[in-house]
Amino acid sequence: MKRSLLIVALLFATTFSAVADKGMWLPSLISSRIKDMKSKGFKLSAEDIYSINKASLKDAVVLFDGGCTGEIVSNRGLLLTNHHCGYDAIQALSSVEHDYLTDGFWAMSNDEELYCPGLKVHILVRMEDVTARLAAGETKADIIAKAESEGVGFHATVESMYYGNEAYLFIYREFQDVRLVGTPPSAIGKFGSDNDNWIWPRHTGDFSVFRIYANANNEPAEYSADNRPYTPARHFKISTKGVKEGDFTMIYGFPGNTQEYITSDAVAYVAKVSDPAKIDLRTQRLNIIGAAQATSPQIRLQYAAKHANIANAWKKWQGEVLGINRLGTFEKKLDYERRFREENPDKAYILDSLEAAYGVNIEHYFNYELYNETLRGIELQQPVKLLLNAKLDDESRQAAAELFYKDFNKEVDRELAHVLLDAFIKYSTLPAKELRALVERHGGVETYVDWLYDNSRFTSLDGFTLSGWEEDPLVEFVGLVQNEVESNVRGYAYRNLSNIPDIERWYRPYVKALMEWDKQRAFFPDANLTLRVAYGKVAGYEYADGEYHLPQTTIEGIMEKDNPEIYDYNIPQRLRDVYAAKDYGRWGITMNGKVTVPVCFIATNHTTGGNSGSPVLNGRGELIGINFDRTWLSTMSDIEFDETLCRNIICDIRYVLFVIDKVGGASWLFEEMSL
Ligand code: ARG
Ligand code: GLU
Repeated sequence: MKRSLLIVALLFATTFSAVADKGMWLPSLISSRIKDMKSKGFKLSAEDIYSINKASLKDAVVLFDGGCTGEIVSNRGLLLTNHHCGYDAIQALSSVEHDYLTDGFWAMSNDEELYCPGLKVHILVRMEDVTARLAAGETKADIIAKAESEGVGFHATVESMYYGNEAYLFIYREFQDVRLVGTPPSAIGKFGSDNDNWIWPRHTGDFSVFRIYANANNEPAEYSADNRPYTPARHFKISTKGVKEGDFTMIYGFPGNTQEYITSDAVAYVAKVSDPAKIDLRTQRLNIIGAAQATSPQIRLQYAAKHANIANAWKKWQGEVLGINRLGTFEKKLDYERRFREENPDKAYILDSLEAAYGVNIEHYFNYELYNETLRGIELQQPVKLLLNAKLDDESRQAAAELFYKDFNKEVDRELAHVLLDAFIKYSTLPAKELRALVERHGGVETYVDWLYDNSRFTSLDGFTLSGWEEDPLVEFVGLVQNEVESNVRGYAYRNLSNIPDIERWYRPYVKALMEWDKQRAFFPDANLTLRVAYGKVAGYEYADGEYHLPQTTIEGIMEKDNPEIYDYNIPQRLRDVYAAKDYGRWGITMNGKVTVPVCFIATNHTTGGNSGSPVLNGRGELIGINFDRTWLSTMSDIEFDETLCRNIICDIRYVLFVIDKVGGASWLFEEMSL
């Protein structure tokens, strides 16, 4: 009897872990997942994913520009990532005469590729568990210094996993000569923009193309005309066969930030305090910016990237709060904690300590977030901060100021300052005595801000001077913000509330105790912008009662949304012509008896911000698409991943190739790809 019960329990445990597509796994430990991956359709081995002895898929994945992912698709360093990841570089290369954002850009040979100053990519050399080395007394700095001396262009970091229970060393090659090869116009790369953002069905061609250059020894080097295309240890083969519902998919990339193990207190903070406050503040900012954009084409351009950035998290947080409430995440966590206490009475003190640590720190962290969302958004401070920054020389101050004023509008910023300073004064619990007194002396926020914007010389580039600015009224304001606010919140500038050292020191024993107690749970370290593998399958989902969303979109949907009157849906004429002539070439497929072009698909891969641009692979490790977003119902997956609902959104590689070929006319790139 006992024996059979045990068998039932084991069976339950295996089916349970075989079902869950949740988790972001460290590639060096992927062998523990291989059995489950194979049962779902993966055809390769753990060594194919990550190896330090031979070339493996990891050699073809890059950290792009410090916050996105990219993938190498040729033995000449050709790189794919998202359009929104390349956006800054593309904007920086653009001018009124060469507006690559609006018109797109295609190099027709290596000579025409454009160097992107400041753009870096990192390729992982290897990762290593250094928990024992740290315990034995080596410092992080020692470990990093030793690792960086191993090779040319090596860059190393030590990252903690499971709230410091483990630590890993990551050694990268850092490449500084990266060039733009091509980008579709924004009307394709950003099709649907903020309106369609976080939404499925989707029709965005969110990709751009770059190339990594290296010196004559194939090593990372500063830009030089003598550099040549980098020969990677490995590049991705591309599969143009397409996918269907149920097919295995995996994603290999750099997810930035999840909070899988936080307690009910932290969930309550996110859903009831932090997100609602930030959403409200951003709604006001977006209203101000949006109204100004509607009045002037110049302001629309100046504030396009700012608006998109503010709107991205603003929209995500709204979905996150809805998702947390719908799933009952708070109640589930409470229940889990109750069970933990009951079954581990000797460890209940850990939860008590966590609770107490939140009690002490939540207010400080809120003040930090509030500062970020209010005072930090008053852009007029930037020029004075440049002048006060002792690390800069005058030449770089002047250059930075010119860049700043190019996208600055005095009246927009004045209106923002009214709202943002007011919110800070009302909601911050920091004393900030002199700042508050200054505002009072001028009769309140409204009159103070107007006086400041009317009397500071810094509201335009003409007023910006490298000397004789010390008496400007803005200097007093910036000084008080720095001394009374920034200096106080700096100590709370951690990834999440739960990473504040005072709180994290209790998560360390808590997560350790969970691992010993909850044997059925598949533990993975929270995302922290280190390389991870997630896997699952292509799948639609029930969006609402009776409303099933299919996993694939096509060019038909683009044409339905096409609207020359609406900026975000005004596709290039070239695409209309190709559609009218059904000139799809090898990229046409037959779906439901009709010839069409696939555009995007969705899958159950567990992803987050930072996974943008990540390669999405089939069971043979071939590239089938580029990740770029999540669906509306999955925006809360950083806190609770529910595989019945959570889907990542992928740009189908066949649409990428179609656009390169039929819109860009850059099919010369296909010769170096493994199609
Ligand atoms: N939601 C995606 C991500 O989190 C795409 C963002 C880019 N698009 C935008 N409208 N801001 O990054
Ligand atoms: N768009 C996100 C990024 O830039 C990825 C989507 C997500 O957050 O899942 O990293």
